[in-house]
Order: sequence, then structure tokens, then C-alpha cells
Amino acid sequence: MASYENQQRVIAQKERTITRFMAKASKTKMAQSMQKQLDKIDRVTIDQEDTAVMNLRFPPAPRSGQIVVEGKGVTKQYGKLLVLDHVDIKLDRGDRVAFVGQNGQGKTTLAKILVNQLTSTSGSITLGHNVQIGYYAQNQSDALGNSQTVLETMENASPPEMRTRLRSILGAFMFSGEDADKKVTVLSGGERARLALACLLLRPFNLLVLDEPTNHLDMLSKDVLKQALLDFDGTLIVVSHDREFLRGLTNRTLEFRDRHLHEYIGDVDAFLEKRSLDNMRQVELSSKIPAADALQPKREISYEERKRLQRNVSQAEKRIEKLEEELVKLEQVMGDMSFYERPDAHQVTKDYQQKKAALEEAMSEWEEAQSALDEAGI
Ligand SMILES: Nc1ncnc2c1ncn2[C@@H]1O[C@H](COP(=O)(O)OP(=O)(O)OP(=O)(O)O)[C@@H](O)[C@H]1O
Ligand SMILES: [Mg+2]
Repeated sequence: MASYENQQRVIAQKERTITRFMAKASKTKMAQSMQKQLDKIDRVTIDQEDTAVMNLRFPPAPRSGQIVVEGKGVTKQYGKLLVLDHVDIKLDRGDRVAFVGQNGQGKTTLAKILVNQLTSTSGSITLGHNVQIGYYAQNQSDALGNSQTVLETMENASPPEMRTRLRSILGAFMFSGEDADKKVTVLSGGERARLALACLLLRPFNLLVLDEPTNHLDMLSKDVLKQALLDFDGTLIVVSHDREFLRGLTNRTLEFRDRHLHEYIGDVDAFLEKRSLDNMRQVELSSKIPAADALQPKREISYEERKRLQRNVSQAEKRIEKLEEELVKLEQVMGDMSFYERPDAHQVTKDYQQKKAALEEAMSEWEEAQSALDEAGI
């Protein structure tokens, strides 16, 4: 999984470079060379089996009352700090709500008040009929017991009929057989997060309150979680700063700003769109601000440095051209049916591999020097 993700990052980076240089007449040829090389890369694939196991589902949500939770005039003060000021919130069954807003605006505070982990300074919270809450805390290290092992934690959170499935659920969250016996104390932040999420799949909940569940997840686990949440048929509150993750996941967006809630219909994209319309003036102002990269001062480079970089670029270009020609010839030789009967087949293959590696190296040298020149605006 790690090498898959690594490679995906490298490929994305290369594709960006290629697009960048395709647009420059003098660099098109290099961009094409890079594209060819990229096409030939041995792509790491993920086993069908792996992704199949990762296909997780929350247990069906037991039916709750029509109103799932209602808060009226909720106010929260930490000492002198007023975080929430007479906030009203009402969730109907099946609502899917995103909590968004800048750091410190009270998202976690309200989430904790709703799940009864924190008391409000004033105001009331009413839970609907038969509401069963599954809560994922932002700071998961506080929420898991330390003396237990991974498997014991799962056992304690699980109804008897789920016991036989625990190891496979753990497997889906990338805990191997050995990992299952690790003490929770020694787990990394990411492992704790995955364990806490795994626990949420054990019991049927009908209100999931997830406070930044993707913080410790890699791309793939994030997708898996999102898919499972899309299939979840209960009521959902998810606190997140991750636009990609929130996209299409919720149908209401509550923005926390200045101690109040501002409601928007639709998912995060709809929210951001409407929000910018609401703040036309601000948008007009911000559009006058030059794009971020235009603000970046050009990196100063000396005359010598520039000469050196230009030399590196042209030397790399020559080397790349030569290696590409040689590789094409070798590929023809190796493509011959009787090639492997030749006594020097092994030597030729080795030579081919070395040239391929050299080509890759020359490409990165070229890329590096060319990028440095680009950054300096040359
Ligand atoms: N136990 C506490 N004691 C004092 N102040 C607190 C406490 N918990 C939170 N705060 C403060 O209350 C404000 C709101 O915190 P909260 O964690 O609810 O924000 P948040 O919107 O979840 O932020 P983030 O996006 O960073 O998670 C912050 O200024 C925070 O420092
Ligand atoms: Mg928070």
C-alpha cells in the first residue's frame, strides 16, 4: 500500500512537470521523452483482494425518532472565553451535517456537548427517541484505554455475535495478526485512529458524530471510510477541514464563526460557493490580491549558478537523447525470438537495465536543473 501511494505521488509529480513543459515550445521534446518514460513505468497495483476486504460497511442503523437531537440556546464558556453563544441546532433523522470553520471556533466543543461528554454553560440538549450515538473524538489518544491490547479493545466494544469477525475487521484496518496483540499504549497516532474507527463498526449506531476522522488516515483508508459513510443510513455529523473528503458526503453544512452557527444547504462545495457569493465584497477584494505564487519572490541566482544550471540542462538533454537511442536499439535486439539463446543474453539484459536506470537519473537531473531555472524566472 505504501509503495502504491509513493508511486502515485511520483507519477502525479511527473505528470505536473510534463504538463508544465509541454506548454513550452523549446521543452516539448523533453516532455515527450518524460511521457514515454512514464508510460513504461512498472505500475504498482493493489490486489483486488486487498481492496475487497477494505470494503467496509457500518451495521444498519436502528430506526430513531424523527428528531434525532435538538439543542436550544446552547452557550459554552471556558472561563472567560465565550466559544458558543446561544446556538440552536436541530437534526432530523437521516440528516448529514458537516461542521466546518476555522480552528478554535467551537466545532469540537459542540460535538462533545451533543454526545454528552461536555456540559454546556447554559441551554438545553434533547436527544430523540432511541438515539444510539457512535462518537469518534478528535483527540483519540484520550478516548482509548491504555492497558488493553488492540484485540481486547475490540472485544470490549463488541456484542457477542460480532466476536468472530473482529480479526477480519482489524485486518481491513491494516492491523496484522501480530498487531492485534499490541498494547494500545504503544500505538502510533494513526493506529489509534484506525482502531477507534474499527470500533465504530461493531455496534449498530444511528447517530455518528465523527470529529476529524481523517486526520491520521492515508488516502486509501480515507476513501474506504468515505464510501462506508456514504452507505451509512443513519444520521451523521462530521467535523472536517478536508474538502475532498467532505465533497458529496453531507447535505447540510454548518459553519462555526464568531460564536454562532451559519447554516448552508448542500455539501462543502455548495457551501464554499454560496459563502463567496454572500461575501461578494470580500471576494472582490481578494481577487485583487495577486495569485499566491505571484507573491513568491523569484529566487535570486548568480550568473555562475545560472550558467551551471543551463549547462546541466543541456548536458542532461544530450545524455537522454543518446540513451533513448541506445535503448531503442537494445529493445529491438531483445525483442528477437532467439535472443535468449544468445550466450551474451544475460550481459545485454544487464546493460539494458543499467541504461534504463541511467536514463531515469538523467531525467531527474534535467528536471531539477530546469525547475531551478524556472523558479528563477529564466
Ligand atoms: N477545556 C478547555 N479549556 C479551555 N479552553 C478550551 C477548552 N477546550 C477548548 N477550549 C478553547 O475553546 C475554543 C474552541 O475549541 P474547539 O476545540 O471547540 O475548536 P474547534 O473548532 O474544534 O477547533 P479545531 O478546528 O482546531 O479542532 C478554542 O479557543 C479552545 O482553545
Ligand atoms: Mg476540533
